[in-house]
Formats: sequence, C-alpha cells, structure tokens
Amino acid sequence: MSNAKIYPVPAETAKNANITREQYQEMYRRSLDDADNFWAEQADERLHWFKKWDTVNGSDLNKGVIKWFEGGKINAAYNCLDRHLEKRGSQTAIIWEKDDPKADAEHITYRDLHERVSRFANALKARGVKKGDRVCIYLPMIPEAAVAMLACARIGAVHSVVFGGFSPQALQDRVLDSDCHVVVTADESVRGGRNFPLKANADQALQKCPDVNTVFVVKRTGGKVDWQEGRDVWYHEAVKDASADCPAEETDAEDPLFILYTSGSTGKPKGVMHTTGGYLLGASMTHEYVFDYKDGEVYWCTADVGWVTGHTYIVYGPLANGAITLMFEGVPTFPDAGRFWDVVDKHDVAIFYTAPTAIRALMGQGNDFVTRSSRKSLRLLGTVGEPINPEAWEWYNNVVGDKRCPIVDTWWQTETGSILITPLPGATDLKPGSATLPFFGVEPQLVDNDGNLLDGAVAGNLCLARSWPSMMRTVYGDHQRFIETYLSTYKGKYFTGDGARRDEDGYYWITGRVDDVLNVSGHRMGTAEIESALVLHAAVAEAAVVGFPHDVKGQGIYAYVTLMSGKEPTDELKKELNDLIRKEIGAIAKPDFIQWAPGLPKTRSGKIMRRILRKVACNELDSLGDTSTLADPSVVDDLIEDRANR
Ligand code: WT7
Repeated sequence: MSNAKIYPVPAETAKNANITREQYQEMYRRSLDDADNFWAEQADERLHWFKKWDTVNGSDLNKGVIKWFEGGKINAAYNCLDRHLEKRGSQTAIIWEKDDPKADAEHITYRDLHERVSRFANALKARGVKKGDRVCIYLPMIPEAAVAMLACARIGAVHSVVFGGFSPQALQDRVLDSDCHVVVTADESVRGGRNFPLKANADQALQKCPDVNTVFVVKRTGGKVDWQEGRDVWYHEAVKDASADCPAEETDAEDPLFILYTSGSTGKPKGVMHTTGGYLLGASMTHEYVFDYKDGEVYWCTADVGWVTGHTYIVYGPLANGAITLMFEGVPTFPDAGRFWDVVDKHDVAIFYTAPTAIRALMGQGNDFVTRSSRKSLRLLGTVGEPINPEAWEWYNNVVGDKRCPIVDTWWQTETGSILITPLPGATDLKPGSATLPFFGVEPQLVDNDGNLLDGAVAGNLCLARSWPSMMRTVYGDHQRFIETYLSTYKGKYFTGDGARRDEDGYYWITGRVDDVLNVSGHRMGTAEIESALVLHAAVAEAAVVGFPHDVKGQGIYAYVTLMSGKEPTDELKKELNDLIRKEIGAIAKPDFIQWAPGLPKTRSGKIMRRILRKVACNELDSLGDTSTLADPSVVDDLIEDRANR
C-alpha cells in the first residue's frame, strides 16, 4: 500500500481549519512530552469545573488504575447545557428528524433542553434515584433519550443505555448486571414506517427483575400498552408535575457517568464504565478537532444512541461544544435510499458522520438517489465502526461529497470513549482505507504475538502505550475482568483486540479484530454469545460461530451446528435457531448461514480449531493449514463436502 492514493488537505480546508498541520505536529509532540500540562490546559479551557483537580493523571496501566483529574468537581450536564445558556440559550441544540419524512422536524433550543433535562432529573429524584444509582435507558431515537441521559448526569446517576433493537432477554441481562431499579422506555419505536413494541419488550424483560420499581414510559405513538400500576409512570405526566429547577450535582471527575455493554471474545457482554471529567474532555476535544466544528454548523452523526458513537458524538461531544446536533429516528432506506441526502438538504447539514456498512448499502442502490439532492451544505464527511474499503471510500468522496469534502476515517472503541486514530481535516493528507494518525495524547504501538515491540512499517497487534482521559475505567462489577481483558495480554499496555499495519508515513491501517469478536454492519458481537444462544436449543449438541467477508455488512455470521444424535437437520429447525437468537440477543445477531456439522474440528485436547472453520466459511480451502493435530482430520472433509451441498 505504499503507493496508496493520497488526497492532500484541500487549500480551503487548511485555511479555515481549527487545527493546522503545524499545530497538529506541535500539539501532538507536547501531548506526549509535556502531557500533564497539555491536558491540564485543555481541561481548563474546554470545560467548566466547580473545583479544579488535584492530580491530572493518576493512571498506572501496570496496576489497572485509570484516573484523570482526580479531586476535580464537574457536572457533565452543566457543561452540556447551563454554561451555554447565556450565549446561546435560544440556539438550537437538537434537531429531531422523525422517521416520517413528511413530519416537521423538532428544533429544541439549549434553553428548552435545559428545562426538559431539569424536569426529568427531578422526576427521577422523585422516584428515589440518587447519585451513583444506575438507570437503564431503553429508548428509540427520540429527544427523550438525550434528555434522560443528561438528567442522569445532572443528578450524578449512572445511565446504562440499551440499544432499542436488543431483545427482552438482552435487556434483562443488562438491567440485572448493573442492578438498575429504574428503566426509561417508550410505548413503541418507529422505524421505516413500522412500529415496534418497546414497552412490551421491556415488560417481558422485567418479569425477572424484581428490583425495578419504576418504568418511565414515553408516549411516542400512543400504541396500546400493558400497565403495571405502581411501577409504570407516564413520562409526560412525571415531567409536567416536576419542577424545572434542578441544580447540577457537583460530581467528582472520577464519578461514573455511564455504563455501556459491549461484546468481548468470551462470556457475557461487559459493562464498560466511563467516568465524568476525562470522558467529557475527550468527547468535546475530538468533536471540535476531528470534525473541525465551527459555531452554528449543523452536525449529524447517524449512529443510534444505544452505541458509544451515539453517546459521544450525538450527545456529549456536540452538546459540550454548544453545537447543533441532528438526531434521526429513521433508517437510511425509508422511504427510499435517498433519505440521508434529503435530510442533509432539509437541514443544511455541514458535517455528516456514518458507518461504512451504510455507505456500501446505499452505493448498491445507485447514484440517482444521491444526485437528486444538492448537498451543497456539506463540508466534511466521516466514517466509523469498521475498515472502509477503498471502493466505498471513493464513492463517498466522489458521489456524496462531490470531491470537495474531506473524509475522516475515525478509529476508536466503546472502551476508548472517544476517537483515538483519525485524520484532522486541516492537518492530515488522506489515504482511502487508513485511519491515518494518532490523536493528541495517543501513543499507538504494534507488537507481535509475544509482545515484542515492532518498529517501522510493519503489521502487528494494536496496543496503546499510555492512558488517555476518556479511557474506560473498569468493567462494571468485575475489575479483574477489566485487567485480564485489556491490560494483561501485553503487560503495561492497553490491548485493543485489533490488528493494524503501519506504513512508511506512520499511517495506521486497521485490519480488523484479531480475537473472536465479529463486526457485523459496524455492530460488535462475540462469537461466544451467539454460540451460547444456539446451544440453548434442546436439539443442539454443539455450535461454533465464525465471521466471513460480506459485501455490505463487512462481516457476516457463519454458524456451524452439531445436532444431538437422532435429531434431524430441517429448515424448520434452522428457523427455530434463528428465532432463538433473535429472542436471546436480537435480530442483529441472526446468522447469515447455518451449516449442519456432523462434527467440529478439534485438537486432541478438545479445543475447537476456529482457524479451520474460518477457512471453510470463507471457502479458502487451499489454505486450510496444518490439520494433522486434529483428533479426527476427516471431520474437515465432511464439513467441506457439506458446505458445497449447502
Ligand atoms: C471496533 C470497536 C467506537 C466506534 C464504533 C464501534 C472497529 C471502529 C474503525 C475504523 C477500522 C474500526 C475496530 C474496533 N472499528 N472504528 N475507523 N476502522 N475498524 O465501537 O462497537 O466498540 O467496536 O470497531 O475493530 O475494535 P465498538
């Protein structure tokens, strides 16, 4: 890739950029060489502190201790709302574009948002929620999702947002794991012209959550819902009765702000915990610098608030910066594949941030859906969630951006809290498919499987050699798991789980996960989770799940299933397995293929050889590698034959 195409920073972008090339180089050096002063200045300039911190960075990766700005007093909601009121109280904070393209969008000013948040914060208090309590938010893409998050932040409660597409079982697991006593949901969600029964899902989930004493229900559609007297509370009634005056709690910089569950290579999803000061600093700084945000611009991140991208780049980053953030309830293909660009024109969106999977899906629908819109307001494009293939990058650049909008390919993770490897539009020449260079304070390292540091242009396991402010602090309720998962593989470093290559220019090319985590349409999924769901079926003896390349989703899900003896492999059974996964996890985890496997390839010690299963799934039969250590090598021939007959 040394001869990869280079797209230099456009002159116009360079001229008006928040960070120039020289500034990037100077600031990056300082962020490593004079780190404490660098971060102290940023924290001081960007955020409002009730009281300054005692120590800038108290982290020690060797000990599993991550601490930033300890002793500082700060409130995230205050920073996102109150401090903007004087200057931009009547400016729009959130534009809410509903699913129905004909519906008027809602414009919520900073003053409105402040009032709504204060009222709901008081409603939470009225139901007994105190500082440190966890509140589960299971909502669609409606403004109340942002309001509920900020209301928690305002009183020092810890939100745990669960993606609205997750199943009742997945919701139940998360409510129990973080011991939430309050849940916020809606009667129904609306997507692509259809209604989905969110409250009914929540009811089902909460059957086994006896400690949940309050369910706030937002009336989105007016659809029929069951009601549990004493527990269920209409959101609109609760906020009507609540006072609009709710002083922001002076939380410690290291008090938890939120928990967000994400999948790992083993076990149940982990509750990634973020705290207040460092997280907000990372969110605010990256939002301004990576998106080169200018006052008054409309900024649109198409993620769902159920994922970290929605947390950091729909809610906390933009609002901390007093930006106008667009929240979209619908889907990219309703009423047709031109919706994104219609919305761009409707609201004069300047900055547009989405996932490669969406770009690939829309690319397949043809250019007319794009070119019928003007998109003249667009200035900058971004991608996140998975590597972008150069074809999709070029289409995004040429067709969507009319060759005049730089594209920031931003690499980060739920665990990192904010963007860590990324171009800065005015500072970084682009190479399609590369996330380019580290952000301030980020020290990437590539190591081989034995942990040896690799220099120069080379591929390896991507680690981060030092802590950064928005780094996760722990796995909720299981600090040992935090240490084992992230800080033990390569002692003294944070291990990302990703592989990457560094080229001659020091640019990073993320090659994807090196562990048993899949990235399906930008959604992260553990193979172990899907396997656990499959083996719940009485007919299933064993299951192994691997990923394979998929044109639109990036990765598809391939499941090998071994049945109990005497059980017949039927289409009916396949359907039951799909339904089971939908019930246990959600529709996003449904396998693209289920292959009946008479046996799975195992070593003599009984370990499944996933390497071989991956090869068979990808149909790379020439490179199966050494199968001589298998307990029964003939299993592989059976799998290959069955695959051919699938
Ligand atoms: C994984 C994290 C936080 C962003 C949303 C996903 C992959 C993320 C990129 C990128 C290549 C990327 C990595 C990472 N990933 N961004 N720009 N290029 N890969 O967050 O669910 O925590 O997943 O997404 O594999 O480890 P997540």
